[in-house]
Amino acid sequence: MKSILEALNWRYATDRFLDQAISDENLHTILEAARLAPSSMNFQPWKYILIKSPELKQQIFEAGYNQQAIIEAPTLLALTIPNILNTDNVNHIIQAAAEARNAEVSTLEGYRKMLQGFIDKTEPDKFFDWSRRQAYISLGILLLTAAQLEIDAAPMEGFDPEKVNSILGLQNYSTVTLIALGYRSPEDDHQTWPKVRFKMEEIFEVR
Ligand SMILES: Cc1cc2nc3c(=O)[nH]c(=O)nc-3n(C[C@H](O)[C@H](O)[C@H](O)COP(=O)(O)O)c2cc1C
Repeated sequence: MKSILEALNWRYATDRFLDQAISDENLHTILEAARLAPSSMNFQPWKYILIKSPELKQQIFEAGYNQQAIIEAPTLLALTIPNILNTDNVNHIIQAAAEARNAEVSTLEGYRKMLQGFIDKTEPDKFFDWSRRQAYISLGILLLTAAQLEIDAAPMEGFDPEKVNSILGLQNYSTVTLIALGYRSPEDDHQTWPKVRFKMEEIFEVR
């Protein structure tokens, strides 16, 4: 397996994919890494949808400005987040925490108050942006994990979200990123492009 820095230098936003599936084991590892991502207060406001249907892929391809990765990659995921957060989300976390820690729900009253306090004090139109910030932590971990497994990825925000949400029949969630996974085609000239990143002194300082 590649080291973290080797993997990050190896990966690139893949444009053209081979018709070669990724194994279920690798997909599971990638999703498990995304699942294990941290989030503020542990809200975990994300759901991944694996889009297998060729018909859905074709429609998403059209709603995604004909980006080839959508249709070419063997695996296509949609990262979706809840449109709003409410007491149901609080209950979900408390239930999960009680199960994981083998604790009575009643012992988590302080935690519940903190979560509910966040819900109560937040303007409803702020939840979506807040959830997106959390979800992108999961996305980053997903992309790193794929790279370490030498699986190529194309994260894509270039699509019409309303169309994609409607294609996927989403009601309470919205798609924030599409993620194509697979193996780079030798014909993809993007792999030869030098990596463009700001210099360390431009993005890091000591005070
Ligand atoms: C959240 C996100 C959304 C992106 N959306 C698109 C996209 O819709 N189309 C595209 O060609 N590239 C997209 N990219 C790829 C970026 O342009 C690319 O990651 C960046 O230029 C750095 O290049 P590299 O990933 O090849 O190192 C996206 C990247 C991220 C992280």
